[in-house]
Amino acid sequence: MAADTGFSDVPAEAWYAEAAVWCRDHGMMSGTSGNTFSPSAVMTRAMLAAVLYRAAGSPAVTGNADFSDVPADAYYNRAVNWASANRIISGYGSRLFGSNAPVTREQAAAILWRYDGSPAAERGTDFADESSIASYAGQAVDWVRAEGIISGVDGNRFVPRGQATRAQVAVILHRYLTRGTAVTPPADNAQSEDTASGISSQDSVSRSTDFDLEKGTVTLNNGIEMPILGIGTYTLSSEQAENSVYWALRDGYRLIDTARIYGNEEGVGRGIRRAIDEGLVTRGEIFVTTKMWTSDYENGAAAIDASLRRLGLDYIDLMILHHSQPGSDVGAYQAMEQAVSEGKLRSIGLSNYYTAADFDRLVNAAAIPPALLQNETHPHYQSTAMKEHLKQYGTVLESWYPLGGRGHTQELFNDSTISSIAAAHGKTPAQVLLRWHLQAGNIAIPGSSSEAHIQENFEIFDFALTDAEMQRIAAMDQNRRHSSY
Ligand SMILES: NC(=O)c1ccc[n+]([C@@H]2O[C@H](COP(=O)([O-])OP(=O)(O)OC[C@H]3O[C@@H](n4cnc5c(N)ncnc54)[C@H](OP(=O)(O)O)[C@@H]3O)[C@@H](O)[C@H]2O)c1
Repeated sequence: MAADTGFSDVPAEAWYAEAAVWCRDHGMMSGTSGNTFSPSAVMTRAMLAAVLYRAAGSPAVTGNADFSDVPADAYYNRAVNWASANRIISGYGSRLFGSNAPVTREQAAAILWRYDGSPAAERGTDFADESSIASYAGQAVDWVRAEGIISGVDGNRFVPRGQATRAQVAVILHRYLTRGTAVTPPADNAQSEDTASGISSQDSVSRSTDFDLEKGTVTLNNGIEMPILGIGTYTLSSEQAENSVYWALRDGYRLIDTARIYGNEEGVGRGIRRAIDEGLVTRGEIFVTTKMWTSDYENGAAAIDASLRRLGLDYIDLMILHHSQPGSDVGAYQAMEQAVSEGKLRSIGLSNYYTAADFDRLVNAAAIPPALLQNETHPHYQSTAMKEHLKQYGTVLESWYPLGGRGHTQELFNDSTISSIAAAHGKTPAQVLLRWHLQAGNIAIPGSSSEAHIQENFEIFDFALTDAEMQRIAAMDQNRRHSSY
């Protein structure tokens, strides 16, 4: 291997150095800018399409798949059309390709397998986490394992939902394209093997769950942009919800949170239509969340259709399972996954999963990692450990009870830390709490039936809490929930 790789961020001794240099020299992976390779950056679906397209010799492409998230002038436009036409990478439905969504290890296996013509493969020795490999990827995983293209991570796990970095994809591609040739694969000592082909919990990359506080959005792990401040509608009647939603959209909110169990989806739908009819917003500009209630879990597909009907929408931006319910939530989640492929739902997620083990139970049975987890979160219950756990999946946290919840708001509003910070900024305690959520990386959906409160709660983009103030609020954590469910 050359002593100097030519990439400023690829040391010659790195486990992926040979692969990175090989992929560059064979015209498959150029650097990300200047002379950098960005080895630990996540590989997105669009990047992988581009890489494979180049590996295929950049064949002529006929037709245009017309994905709304694939701009005509994007460097990956032809590659995506090629990958989609050849059924190597299909879109998500609703004209979405998921360009910026990260590629998971099982997706990488399935994509490479399809690229290779979907060859048959011997069943290998089971991985310890074999049962969590999605069915669509089963044969592909057998094949990449048998061919020595992707091997297990420490303890013989495949980590199907681990996300692939650029370095890992370079190594996978290098191994795949040099099988049976004279090129020697990188030395396979246990350490480099684990790192090259797997994502351990330590080196999983923190992905684009960074909030853009200027735009007020976050990019979810499926590449879809979501507003980080919204209107909550719990306990509101349908009439109240209609007004609150309408006022919120008029004031600049673009995120709405409801649930079938609130009994106000119809009112929420009316509020949305009022705002659209008055030209305040378009459907495409807003982001509507609803939740599937536990008693509907056995009939998830029908529950999704019923929410669509009540809201009067032809797609829902985010649907989440309202509560953990071992025994029936996996089936309900799979119904939501199916609805994503049918274009009825754009994103899916979870609510009220309070332990890492419970969250992983569901995620390990899922093909699409949850975009979001909505849990009770406020300064008395900051969800810090859960947020850390979610990072490996690129799942973002959304706070319910952001102000402490109905009946509990005064506890937080009157807290001396909150009120003194509010006084220092000339803001209200509610505004300080909401600003804290956003700066802490929590999406917030304050509930309100008051026109004045709704307006007040949106006026939080014109000030910022200092690091010291963030730390003072962090010190308020009591790991104490205000709600009993
Ligand atoms: N997934 C779940 O299980 C779950 C559970 C609970 C809630 N949620 C969602 O999360 C949302 C937020 O939770 P939440 O509504 O229960 O609690 P919250 O947002 O913490 O608090 C709502 C309370 O705060 C008051 N309020 C709002 N803005 C205020 C302001 N600027 N000044 C003073 N008071 C203000 C509201 O009264 P006014 O009406 O007078 O403004 C209401 O009493 C819900 O609406 C719902 O969408 C989800």
